[in-house]
Amino acid sequence: MRRVSQRSVERRNSHLLEHSEHMSDQQLRDEAMTILIAGHETTANALAWTLFLLAQQPEAERKLQDEIAMLHELPPTANVLARVPYTEMVIKESMRLYPPTWIVPCLAISDFELGGYPIHRNSIVFTSPYTMHRHPHCYPNPERFVPERWTPEPEKLLPRYAYFPFGGGPRVCIGNDSP
Ligand code: HEM
Repeated sequence: MRRVSQRSVERRNSHLLEHSEHMSDQQLRDEAMTILIAGHETTANALAWTLFLLAQQPEAERKLQDEIAMLHELPPTANVLARVPYTEMVIKESMRLYPPTWIVPCLAISDFELGGYPIHRNSIVFTSPYTMHRHPHCYPNPERFVPERWTPEPEKLLPRYAYFPFGGGPRVCIGNDSP
């Protein structure tokens, strides 16, 4: 499966290769708009939901504040995430419960079968991080906000695509920083 936008991207890329070695003003504008729109609302939503959850979990909020406070005593480096593991766990757990992109449409590029259901070429299949992220087989007490789920050991046990707030495959979000 590929994202619906794949066709337009391929068309645009082949046009670029055939007709020019650089982007036109229109293409450049379109690329800039994609980055702006794809990166702005998603990040804002992730932060808003994180604050919403923390407002209901004073203990998690205190732990996060303590971790952030320690940063002031250290020299700033680019690798900030390695120094704020609890903060990262909080954000992951927030995006598990409230993934900013709660549904990701994909275009089937060939006939195939999924869980016993035939999927026909050119069908649009909706995948939902929101639904998957609340699957009780993967996440015990799925409705509860538990940042500790994201300590390395339990995370390693998760099946592939049990967590996909940034989508997956060739169209995975370019803002995704996780391994
Ligand atoms: C919490 C923040 C974000 C979330 C939850 C998010 C989520 C997503 C998702 C679900 C997709 C679709 C992936 C797929 O089709 O499988 C996507 C695509 C994309 N995202 Fe993000 N995103 C975030 C931040 C950003 C940022 C900060 C940028 C850029 C600075 C960005 C740029 C893009 C672009 C350009 C695509 C399209 C990639 C392509 O089709 O080749 N995103 N994002």
